[in-house]
Amino acid sequence: MIKKNIRKKSEKYYKEALSLMPAGVNSPVRAFNAVGGNPVFIKWGKGSKIYDVDGNSYIDYVLSWGPLILGHAHKQVINSIVKAARAGTSFGAPTVAENEIARLIKSAIPGMQSLRLVNSGTEAAMSAIRLARSYTGKDKIIKFEGAYHGHSDGLLVKAGSGAAAFGVPTSSGVPRGSARDTIVLPFNDIEKVKAVIAAGHKNIAAVIIEPVCGNMGVAAPLNKFLQKVRTITRQYGILLIFDEVITGFRFCFGGAQNLLKIKPDITCLGKIIGGGMPIGAYGASKKIMDCAAPSGSMYQAGTLSGNPVAVACGLKTLRILKKTDYKKINLLCEELCTDMKKIAKAKKKKITVNRFCSMFTVFFTNKNVSDYSSAYRSDTEKYANYFSKMLSEGVYFAPSQFEANFLSFAHTKKDIEYTIEAFNRIITDI
Ligand SMILES: Cc1ncc(COP(=O)(O)O)c(C=O)c1O
Repeated sequence: MIKKNIRKKSEKYYKEALSLMPAGVNSPVRAFNAVGGNPVFIKWGKGSKIYDVDGNSYIDYVLSWGPLILGHAHKQVINSIVKAARAGTSFGAPTVAENEIARLIKSAIPGMQSLRLVNSGTEAAMSAIRLARSYTGKDKIIKFEGAYHGHSDGLLVKAGSGAAAFGVPTSSGVPRGSARDTIVLPFNDIEKVKAVIAAGHKNIAAVIIEPVCGNMGVAAPLNKFLQKVRTITRQYGILLIFDEVITGFRFCFGGAQNLLKIKPDITCLGKIIGGGMPIGAYGASKKIMDCAAPSGSMYQAGTLSGNPVAVACGLKTLRILKKTDYKKINLLCEELCTDMKKIAKAKKKKITVNRFCSMFTVFFTNKNVSDYSSAYRSDTEKYANYFSKMLSEGVYFAPSQFEANFLSFAHTKKDIEYTIEAFNRIITDI
């Protein structure tokens, strides 16, 4: 896949970018700080491949961090963008396409009886929290260690070393006051959830959760964790928010909630529903959503919300997905992960591969990974080495251990076979 394996132009542009943007990038993980080396500048993409400014090509398992489930530059999706743009790029007034995408999302995720379009997953999660507070009249929220729900102040909080830590901001610039109402608990630990809710339910508005974690690397819910969280939140009048920004339309035509048969009170979407354009959505029952202005007193707005070009792109993506059998990518991903595990075992490498349908993470530990602390047992130096070697083979994996990799419907058996061969070549030296 790599034609020249020379990245001279990328180096040149990166040097220039360093003088223009903090760390030369518009979003932190792109800087490759977690894996070393300098970022690759991408010129174009088609299907499962991306092509850099030096003419190298890579099989892409990042897919813009999840949205491009149909692959890069899908012809029908691009045509829909062009058609929408020709009719005007923004009106700040209602359009029919907004009804259409809302209707389609609602048909797939019935719990989103009423929904609002926003511009990103960050906005969706931030608005969902405000909505939950408005509806319940309570302030505190529970989130899980290692889960990412965008970069709004109250959600940029991680746990301390204690069992149930009250918020300490992960980022500078977040006032301690904003973090104080965020309680952080370990994922998959139902006893801690029960204890904290039993003691503090009078002040807890919501539990926000990635139903399948993607942001500590992939980690699935175990032992009916989500069902139990659903039961206890319902029992105490606490709203359950599923952040399906990654998982929405990733595993099936709907959310992880469809697959796992759990109905949250509020759902957040992003990524795939925009098909590669900036979008997000949050939705719930009509009763809850009617708290949002101007029906209710919870303020939330956006100059570009429901942007016609983003909506056209998302709508076309969803319409194609509705007719698509997800089995194909789930099976391809299974093949990839099974073979990587077999090779690693044969070569006596300590590796755990977590996969959920078409998303996966390779951890450099032989212990199970089911929460933040087990994910952080992974040897990140080994991951960095593996990442760089795979990149040199023309395979673009996530430039951080604690991220998910994705397959798209554009990935072929040949792509998978090539990736497995490359993995087989490089893993001996890691
Ligand atoms: C689960 C989850 N929620 C929210 C977000 C924030 O979305 P965005 O980057 O579109 O603001 C992300 C981003 O990766 C995410 O993975």
